[in-house]
Amino acid sequence: MSPAFNLETCARPNILALEPYRCARDDYKDDGSNVLLDANENAYGPPLADAVSLTSAAADAGLDLLGLHRYPDPHQGDLKEQLCALRNTHAHTAQTLTPANLFVGVGSDEAVDALLRCFCVPGRDRILVCPPTYGMYGVSAQVNDVGLVKVPLTPAPEFGIDVPAVLAALDAAVAAPDYDVKVVYLCSPGNPTGAALRKDDIAAVLGHATFNGIVVVDEAYVDFVADQRTASLAEWVLEWPNLVVMQTLSKAFGMAGIRLGAAFCAAPVARLLNALKAPYNIASPTSTLARSVLGPAGLAAMQANRAKLVAQRERLIEALPQIPGVGRLRGGTDSNFLLYEMLNSSGEPDNAVALAVYTKLAEQRGVVVRFRGKEHGCLGCLRITVGTEDEVSRFLEALAKTLAEVRQ
Ligand SMILES: Cc1ncc(COP(=O)(O)O)c(C=O)c1O
Repeated sequence: MSPAFNLETCARPNILALEPYRCARDDYKDDGSNVLLDANENAYGPPLADAVSLTSAAADAGLDLLGLHRYPDPHQGDLKEQLCALRNTHAHTAQTLTPANLFVGVGSDEAVDALLRCFCVPGRDRILVCPPTYGMYGVSAQVNDVGLVKVPLTPAPEFGIDVPAVLAALDAAVAAPDYDVKVVYLCSPGNPTGAALRKDDIAAVLGHATFNGIVVVDEAYVDFVADQRTASLAEWVLEWPNLVVMQTLSKAFGMAGIRLGAAFCAAPVARLLNALKAPYNIASPTSTLARSVLGPAGLAAMQANRAKLVAQRERLIEALPQIPGVGRLRGGTDSNFLLYEMLNSSGEPDNAVALAVYTKLAEQRGVVVRFRGKEHGCLGCLRITVGTEDEVSRFLEALAKTLAEVRQ
């Protein structure tokens, strides 16, 4: 399936040799009755006893603020079970994900960085990215002194993987004497493209004949894709030992503030990522709240909010072309944002217009969108996050006025 992939030669030797940090509670589970004198915690608890309204309100939400003097569970088995249950659709394999297939981190940004540290030798190895794409892959690579190979997506509005070009870049890396590409970061649905990648194209990269590396599919926006049963490739990690699928609770689940991301991987890869992470990376309140939104009531509320956002997305798609100066929708509609061109008075996409609209919208009308005109293939584009009904109304009115002023 992945002819050249060999974890033993792909991962960094120091990571392969890593003994994960162990705590006494790995040996002696806390059943609530033990005297816990093993972790240098503060036995008198957090100084929140007087904040009665805070602690009791939190307790109503299932949060044990008075238990915050204890370190959180390093393994997060129950949370991982829920994440697996969400993604075991059997649309892509008959096999079943288990907690051994998961790394959970402080947002998916932690997974982006952990993968780099696991596989890329600083100062030597490179990652492959497909612009326009999420900026953190490049930032994390730079932090880790890891180089970038860029292979642009096919032009808008498809914004798909340029499969022959990616395969050729991987061929070139295999042949190069002085560097290896160790990780390919794909984003599906893409940011800022809003377009899901084709499964066949991802398979073509995974199955490259000589590439000994990892293919990451970042599915931060996957819950906005129309066909929910087949949208996520998470369980496909059971078919491809070199596939990692990243997800987050920051988008469709509306929980960006708790910082919870996940990476689904073949179990040997998950073992390495879990060995290299800080042992207590998931805070107890984060874990409790994440488990709550992944429960039946949380999932139902998420679906209801998702439906409202999808309705507003449709409304924007209908309303935006009616506004003079709004050009083409450049990406897909698989996400909770849209990428639109802003046109000059000659009807051409124009970065000066887009930048002026962006600035005036924020400074004069209090509406903040994202200028993306400098990203590859996004000339003159703004990325607009879908908001509530009121926010969309305010945005549409502000945009019409602003464009009329800017294009005079
Ligand atoms: C494609 C993509 N991946 C990952 C993230 C980061 O997610 P998290 O909040 O889980 O770190 C974002 C955030 O904007 C994103 O757009």
